[in-house]
Amino acid sequence: MCSSDGRHGLARGSTIAGLAGRFAERMAAVRPLVDASFVRSDWARRNDELARDLLPVPPADFLRHPSIAFQMFVNERLVPHELPYVRSRLTDDRLLAEPPVGGPPTVPLPDSDVRTSSNTVHQLFHLLRYQEATGRRIDAAATVVEWGGGFGALMRVLVALHRGEPTCVVFDTPVFSAVQWLYLSAVLGEQRVVLHDTAPVRPVAGRVNLVPIGLVDATDVAADLFISNWALNESTPTARQHVVDRHWFGADSLLLAMHAGDPFAEVVLAAGARAVPLGDFLPGQHYLVV
Ligand SMILES: C[S@@+](CC[C@H](N)C(=O)[O-])C[C@H]1O[C@@H](n2cnc3c(N)ncnc32)[C@H](O)[C@@H]1O
Repeated sequence: MCSSDGRHGLARGSTIAGLAGRFAERMAAVRPLVDASFVRSDWARRNDELARDLLPVPPADFLRHPSIAFQMFVNERLVPHELPYVRSRLTDDRLLAEPPVGGPPTVPLPDSDVRTSSNTVHQLFHLLRYQEATGRRIDAAATVVEWGGGFGALMRVLVALHRGEPTCVVFDTPVFSAVQWLYLSAVLGEQRVVLHDTAPVRPVAGRVNLVPIGLVDATDVAADLFISNWALNESTPTARQHVVDRHWFGADSLLLAMHAGDPFAEVVLAAGARAVPLGDFLPGQHYLVV
């Protein structure tokens, strides 16, 4: 059975007001670092809307922006389906606690004074299901690459669950890389987070390295685990081919999630992955794991 002592904690570090005041400067540094051939038009539009509304200083409730809230917070009706599985595998309810950063929608954790969110439950569910399906622990991965990390929720819980000091690399569009810098610096502490804005990119060991996709060619990383949940399949064929040609950045273990009918699933299965349904409560969605 998987368990965690949650000793990293989830909410220490730099003040959100101070970080928000430096957001425009960080955004300016990364904004040109995009390869347009990698980005689908729907994500280009969400990026433009997010940049328009978060600059110059993101509002306190930036996680409620439609480009984030509607894309990354699953419906609260999923909580009763996923929470019992997650809770039975954690030894510490604090891993389920939702940091207040960004004003996320929260729900009470039953029989506890902790407030969690549908998103935190969902992200923990992914990692714990990966461990069960593969027989591998998250701890076995010293270097983790994520493609399309949303606002940073999965990396937050991965760092908390991991009993070591993993080197993490998250590729995303520049606007989301800047949002991840803001969010993860606030919840993990700015010293744990590096937003890269120049080539070549050499990931810093033990940190969460945020890399805008315009720098992917210039990034030297050898991953143990590659993760992309509802993201690489939402990138262009050029982007997908880049990742396949780079052999998943060298990772011998994979966790991807997407709709079972997605044509990219065939490519991941051909790479040796196995399909595992999320469950009857989310018909048609599956993980692809190695
Ligand atoms: C539907 S969200 C999923 C986010 C997160 N993986 C989750 O499960 O909550 C898609 C993610 O892919 C990112 N994305 C879209 N196009 C991308 C691209 N071309 N390269 C890298 N990331 C991209 C988006 O910015 C977003 O972070």
